[in-house]
Amino acid sequence: MLAKFFVSLLNFSPAIKRATWKWWYQRLAHRGRDTGWSFMNYGFTPLNGSPKLELSPEDEQDRLFIQLYDYAASQTPMEGLSVLEVGSGRGGGASFVTRYHHPSEMTGLDYSQSAIELSRQLHKNVPNLQFIQGDAESLPFEDNTFDAVINVESSHCYGNMGAFVKEVARVLKPGGYFSWVALRERDMLAETKLAFNIPNLTPIHNESITTEVIQALDNIHERKMAMIAENVPKAIQSAFMDFAGVKDSQIYNAFQEGNAIYLARTFQKVTL
Ligand SMILES: C[S@@+](CC[C@H](N)C(=O)[O-])C[C@H]1O[C@@H](n2cnc3c(N)ncnc32)[C@H](O)[C@@H]1O
Repeated sequence: MLAKFFVSLLNFSPAIKRATWKWWYQRLAHRGRDTGWSFMNYGFTPLNGSPKLELSPEDEQDRLFIQLYDYAASQTPMEGLSVLEVGSGRGGGASFVTRYHHPSEMTGLDYSQSAIELSRQLHKNVPNLQFIQGDAESLPFEDNTFDAVINVESSHCYGNMGAFVKEVARVLKPGGYFSWVALRERDMLAETKLAFNIPNLTPIHNESITTEVIQALDNIHERKMAMIAENVPKAIQSAFMDFAGVKDSQIYNAFQEGNAIYLARTFQKVTL
């Protein structure tokens, strides 16, 4: 029952969707605080032939989740620039981007205050990285603040995707980049496409990365099952399996059957 709930939430009314995801992520930030668990995405396994990302030994355990961030971050210039991540979760991605893509300053924003507090604690030793509580649909920044914005597997929770995209365009400097990766049910694609249709954002990259995400879900399946068995109360294990996208969960099957897609799009802000 609860498991079904996560997939159908992708299609719920804006207010319910926003409130339910908020409740869920607030709760989630209290779990596994001392495990160092700092990613909440489905991961990405590059297809054969892609060069292997060099990681330090302590980052190896998070390789699949990091690879999704590396893919998103590699779509835009970042070195020496000011970068915002919207929906930074437990902060592992913002920390990776800061340490490997070298922005001059990196800001992670999430609407879960617990996730922000956890991120500040987990990544306190990373220079040039800060975390701020805020809402993707009403960003707490001045116009023209950032050179790049990234958004990784977060926007399926937003009540109003169009409001979020407008906010990104507002806080980006002219010429700045927006890299977005996210899952969508197939029947929401038209609505999502419409949300991106604003005059000062020019599309520069658009692809489906569903195959790479499914490969990552396959690669991480055993580890996730063990983690759920160890850390999650029995009553909500099945909901958690769906949330985590383990094999045979609703979302995993939806990806396999083509009813859900994992998309990657990049835009540049132009002056009109
Ligand atoms: C699936 S998690 C992904 C977290 C992180 N990007 C990662 O890949 O590890 C989605 C995140 O989006 C955040 N989120 C959802 N709706 C939001 C909103 N309206 N404003 C800011 N953050 C939001 C949630 O709190 C959660 O931390």
